[in-house]
Amino acid sequence: MAKPVKHVFVCSQSRPAGHPRGSCAEKGCNEVLQTFWQELQKRNAYERIAVTYSGCLGPCDQGANVLVYPEGILYGHVTREDVMEIFDSHLVGDVPVERLRVADGIW
Ligand code: FES
Repeated sequence: MAKPVKHVFVCSQSRPAGHPRGSCAEKGCNEVLQTFWQELQKRNAYERIAVTYSGCLGPCDQGANVLVYPEGILYGHVTREDVMEIFDSHLVGDVPVERLRVADGIW
């Protein structure tokens, strides 16, 4: 396997209902993850892009959270509808999606 050019981490943490920190799972992270994987497959982009689920990334109140390396850019409040834009603009076009970036000071 070639080293990926971009590596996407989708927080997939779940917590019991009513937990004070909430979780990305209750904010639709599984749909986000599945949509990334579907897009990866559709584009046959496995040589350039890796998509991995992760545990808690930290700022749970911003979820669903998606972290992209090598830039270390964290996207917050991501929904499945945002995945195409992240794919086209950032993962392929190298232009981060500013409207989804978590605010400075949070990340
Ligand atoms: S649960 Fe996703 S960042 Fe904490």
